[in-house]
Amino acid sequence: MTNFWLSLKKPFFVLAPMDDVTDIVFRDVVEKVYPPDVFFTEFVSIEGLASKGRENVIRKLKRNIKSNKPLVAQIWGRNLDDYIKATKDIRKMGFDGIDINMGCPERGIVRRGYCGGLIGQYSEVESIIKAAKKGAGTIPVSVKTRIGIDHAITNDWFSFLLKQDLAAITVHARTVKEMSKVEAHYDEIKKVVKLRDELSKNTLIIGNGDITSYKKGLDLVKETGVDGVMIGRGIFKDIFIFDPKKKEHTLKEMIDILTYHLDKYEDNTDYKSFQILKKFFKIYVNNFDGANDLRIELMQTNSVREVKNILVNRDF
Ligand SMILES: Cc1cc2nc3c(=O)[nH]c(=O)nc-3n(C[C@H](O)[C@H](O)[C@H](O)COP(=O)(O)O)c2cc1C
Repeated sequence: MTNFWLSLKKPFFVLAPMDDVTDIVFRDVVEKVYPPDVFFTEFVSIEGLASKGRENVIRKLKRNIKSNKPLVAQIWGRNLDDYIKATKDIRKMGFDGIDINMGCPERGIVRRGYCGGLIGQYSEVESIIKAAKKGAGTIPVSVKTRIGIDHAITNDWFSFLLKQDLAAITVHARTVKEMSKVEAHYDEIKKVVKLRDELSKNTLIIGNGDITSYKKGLDLVKETGVDGVMIGRGIFKDIFIFDPKKKEHTLKEMIDILTYHLDKYEDNTDYKSFQILKKFFKIYVNNFDGANDLRIELMQTNSVREVKNILVNRDF
C-alpha cells in the first residue's frame, strides 16, 4: 500500500469527518453527486472497538468497496494497546489511511484527556502516534486537530506535531473552547504552513473551518498556502460543493438525489435510525416554492416508505 496522500493533485478537497453524517450512506451520495478527493469516516473509538460493544462501533467502519476515492478511518482514544490493535484491524479492512482525532471539543471527552484534550500533551501524543503507526504498517497516519484548548498554542503544538513524521495534518483553525462559535482564524493556518516548510516538507497541511464554497476553498489555498481544504458543514448548504463549476440544479435533480439517499439508507438500515436520516432532508428540500411545507411534511414521517410515497405522488 502506498501513501495515497502523495498522489493527490494539489490543491485537493476533503469531506470532513462528521459523526452521524459521513457514514457509508452519505459518503456514497456525495460520491455520486460530486466527490471530494478524499473521504473520512465518522470518528471511531478505539476503546469501543476493543470492548464488548465492538459490534456497535465497528459499523462506523462499514465501507463501500466499489468507491473510487481514498477513505481514511478516523479514530480516537488514549489506550496505546488499543491503538495498535485498532490500526492493525483498519489496515486489514482495506482503508487507505488512518487519522487520529485530536480536536473534538465535547466537554466530557476533553475533560478526560481525549481528542481535543490531547492538545499540548506532548509525551502522550508522541506515544499515541507511535502506537498508531505500529499497527498501521504501510498505510499513512495523519492527525486532525485545533490550534489550542483555551488559547492558541499554534507554534508549540504544530512544531511538535511536525516532528512526528505524519503524512498530513488537518488544522481546524479554532481552539477547543471556541467550538465552532467564532470565525476560523486563517492566519493561524498560515503559521502552520510556514512551520511545515521549515520542519517537515513531506507533511501535507489541510485547512479547515467555515469553507462554504469551492471558491472559498481556493481562496484559503491562496491566502495560507495549504495543500488541501477540508469542508464540513458546507455540504449541508450545497451538496454540489466539491464541483469546481458552479451550476444551477433543478428541483427534480435534488429530489432524485434524495431518492438515491433513501435507497442507500434502505441498503444499510442496520446502521442508523430513521430519525438521523431525517436531518439530511433539508439539504435537498430547500430554496424552492413550497420547500418549507414539503420539508415539514417529510419531517413528520416515520419510515422511508412514507417519504417515498409523498415524493412519488408529487410532480417535480
Ligand atoms: C455534526 C458534526 C459532527 C462532527 N464530527 C466530527 C468527527 O467525528 N471527527 C472530527 O474530527 N470532527 C468532527 N466534526 C468537526 C468537523 O470535521 C469540522 O472540523 C468542523 O465542522 C469545522 O469545519 P466546517 O466549518 O467546514 O464545518 C464534526 C462537525 C459536525 C458539524
